[in-house]
Amino acid sequence: MKKPIQQHFSVPFQYQVHFTRAIFDKNNPLFAHTVKSDLVPKVFFIIDQGVAEAHPNLINQIEAYAEAYKHIFQLCGRSLIVPGGEQSKNTNRYFQQILEATHTFGIDRHSYVVALGGGAVLDMAGFASAVAHRGIRHIRIPTTVLSQNDSGVGVKNGINSFGKKNFLGTFAPPFAVINDVAFLTTLDDRDWRAGISEAIKVALIKDASFFQWIEKQASSLASRQMEPMETLIYRCAEMHLEHIASGDPFEMGSSRPLDFGHWAAHKLEQLTAYQIRHGEAVTIGMALDATYSYLKNMLSAEELHRIVQLMKTLGFDLYVPELSNQEVLNGLDEFREHLGGELTIMLLNAIGQGVEVHEMDKHLLQEAISKLKKFQEADLKV
Ligand SMILES: NC(=O)c1ccc[n+]([C@@H]2O[C@H](COP(=O)([O-])OP(=O)(O)OC[C@H]3O[C@@H](n4cnc5c(N)ncnc54)[C@H](O)[C@@H]3O)[C@@H](O)[C@H]2O)c1
Ligand SMILES: [Zn+2]
Repeated sequence: MKKPIQQHFSVPFQYQVHFTRAIFDKNNPLFAHTVKSDLVPKVFFIIDQGVAEAHPNLINQIEAYAEAYKHIFQLCGRSLIVPGGEQSKNTNRYFQQILEATHTFGIDRHSYVVALGGGAVLDMAGFASAVAHRGIRHIRIPTTVLSQNDSGVGVKNGINSFGKKNFLGTFAPPFAVINDVAFLTTLDDRDWRAGISEAIKVALIKDASFFQWIEKQASSLASRQMEPMETLIYRCAEMHLEHIASGDPFEMGSSRPLDFGHWAAHKLEQLTAYQIRHGEAVTIGMALDATYSYLKNMLSAEELHRIVQLMKTLGFDLYVPELSNQEVLNGLDEFREHLGGELTIMLLNAIGQGVEVHEMDKHLLQEAISKLKKFQEADLKV
């Protein structure tokens, strides 16, 4: 028998996450510079319908911008408008439409597929870009708080299938990400608020001083002031990117620190038929795991109080009736299955200090759920 041939190589990935304003103003060359190459590449746009409706001039602006920079890139076809939110991920219809466009317009591996929208549209379009021709250069222009500080800057994409979130998808770093704060002005209050949850998440597991900063800014954030929001997005995106680079970017192991609060959140999203936003579900999931940490004597009463107080000040619900559904606890088993190994859940030893555990006591979880119901009814006494 011949000995095995040992194969080994590594591929370095790098991409830039830009922060700009008025991305399609002709005086802003950032987008054109991002796609600039020796050729005049083709660029195909996929646009979230919610954004197109809130910014009726957007498509004209993109076309005028492309005209101004036609020596640098060329638009192919008209932009493809797809429904915003989870609808775009709950079927393979829009995914298929992008593949068809790739075929029809001859979009190759030197062209660019640009997705502009919320996290759901970016996830779906990112998946299509990753599989067409085994990977086309993909640029993301996130338009929600959540996608600018979390989902749009990372390396994952996907669509839902068999009733499970993100059942189909890949790990595929984007070519570039361009955040434009101007899009955030048209978000409805729920989407404005929902993205703040991912910043609370990274603060809770890694950075007590960031948590304190969010506490100080809570009222300004709740009243939609842009300046603290820009700082929050920048810091959260930065921590997210640091984590991806230093940890396990393609999630080979069972550890998922950034999924703090997410096992219950994913289940709640599904049980509410996606009526609650990802970020809203994550807040409830984090409140649940923080309360559980307190009941396990890992987190002090004072710290739990600060956490639920912050969530309330920002206007989040801490409980929805679906949380009492027996099925929520099945979310633990589904999460383990998704990780593909040992159950690994992030809990809190302190604000700013996450700790991983490998089992959860379902009775104590029930108790934590009852406490959240009380917190929701305005009784914040821990
Ligand atoms: N890939 C990842 O790593 C990752 C991480 C976290 C979340 N996600 C996914 O992200 C999705 C949630 O994304 P989201 O919170 O960004 O919301 P979303 O994509 O569901 O969008 C919410 C709504 O806002 C609208 N919208 C988007 N931008 C707008 C704007 N600027 N003005 C007005 N309306 C606008 C959309 O049309 C939609 O109706 C979920 O599917 C979640 O699973 C992915
Ligand atoms: Zn999330």
